[in-house]
Amino acid sequence: MERADIGLIGLGTMGAMLALNIAEKGYRIAVWNRTGSVTEKFAATAGELASRIVPTQTLQALVEAIRPPRTIILMVPAGKVVDDQIAALRPLLDRDDLVIDAGNANFHDTDRRAAEAAIKGPRFLGMGVSGGEEGARHGPSIMGGGDKADWDRVKPVLEAISAKYQGIPCATWMGPAGAGHFVKAVHNGVEYADMQMIAEIYGLMRDGLGMGAAAIGDVFAAWNRGPLQSYLVEISAAVARATDGGKPMLDVILDKAGQKGTGRWTVIEAQHLSAPIPVIEAAVMARNVSARLEARQAGQAVFGPAPQALPQGSVTIALLEQAMIAGKILCYAQGFQMLAAASESFGWNLPLPEIAKVWRAGCIIRSSMLNDMSTALAEDPARGLMLAPFFASLLKTATPALRQVVAAGAAHGQPVPALSAGLSWFDMMRTARGTANMIQAQRDFFGAHGFERLDQPGTGLHGPWGAHMV
Ligand code: 6PG
Repeated sequence: MERADIGLIGLGTMGAMLALNIAEKGYRIAVWNRTGSVTEKFAATAGELASRIVPTQTLQALVEAIRPPRTIILMVPAGKVVDDQIAALRPLLDRDDLVIDAGNANFHDTDRRAAEAAIKGPRFLGMGVSGGEEGARHGPSIMGGGDKADWDRVKPVLEAISAKYQGIPCATWMGPAGAGHFVKAVHNGVEYADMQMIAEIYGLMRDGLGMGAAAIGDVFAAWNRGPLQSYLVEISAAVARATDGGKPMLDVILDKAGQKGTGRWTVIEAQHLSAPIPVIEAAVMARNVSARLEARQAGQAVFGPAPQALPQGSVTIALLEQAMIAGKILCYAQGFQMLAAASESFGWNLPLPEIAKVWRAGCIIRSSMLNDMSTALAEDPARGLMLAPFFASLLKTATPALRQVVAAGAAHGQPVPALSAGLSWFDMMRTARGTANMIQAQRDFFGAHGFERLDQPGTGLHGPWGAHMV
């Protein structure tokens, strides 16, 4: 039988969709799943693509079905399953064969697996894939990491199956080892933040302006035709307009958010890098708070409900749109600064404008703003988005609205943690004389940690605290 061009392990939703996508692009693909019946069913329901799908029942059979040097994509749950799968494949594969982990791996694991692969083989790439089920089937955004030569070897397949932005494939090599999975983690952090800001704006419309779900859906749909055009705003319109048994679907969904942990990883790494990403941090925090339903109910029983109607005219739909624009720019500015910090710290040379480009289509955070972000980052990657003239001009218009919205939220008990985190960061980042002189004085007072002075040169200087001991 004719050998396959590529193999894939793991026929869960994402793996199955990716396999169909690969077959559709003309590649012959061998597949294997731990549960054999899943493999059979997958091949039996592949329709006209079945002729390019080779179902196999053992790992050995999978390996034999692929033309050497082999490429095998793993689409299995992140963590130990990936290690177990690589260990099971290793004795069956040649050193020159290539394993690609396409799951949502922690980039530290990808770094470790790349180091192990360099010693024991086979070759290894870590690949972030975004776009959910639909993306996997018809074109995801792909963020690769590993040896460039290995990427180049599989680039034709990856570019063929990826989303296209005006004909340009959204599949890019980001750098060595864990770089691709790192970029995917930051993507997910931004995804959390975008979703949280939309949820906050939804809350202001629902509880502050007394709007019903359908009307809120109409607002999101209108925004999706303007500067906020994006997949997440588009689906927010759809979910707000959806009904179930005559009721708005949103009104019967429990307000407890789940999470698989990628947003948390982003926040943890940001702390290690000393990279401020407060909007993403607030979004992860908000998911954690949402999960504490009983504690929130107890809080409401003691203090009364927080969200109150906003006074007529204090917040308008137009103001909310501008606030969302400002919040979004600030959040992305933070995300790209974190990528720049990682690039420097790990010596990755991450291609920031290319990252913005790869996010323009296929992925969950795709939006029309990313094209302008890519242009701004290409002009000067070190400057950051907040100071890029195009975005600085948008921020000058939009931050007064953000301030008004956050102030109204604070005044009337409407929680807006992500939007307010963006605003505080913006205010700090445009304040030349901040308040850390107080922190430095305190540190010196209790620990003689020393400070620098504005009026004298030198470091490690101390204050006259002895005379003022408490
Ligand atoms: C994507 C998504 C995806 C993620 C889910 C669930 O880019 O396609 O980021 O990878 O796993 O959206 O994430 P949470 O369970 O953490 O919300």
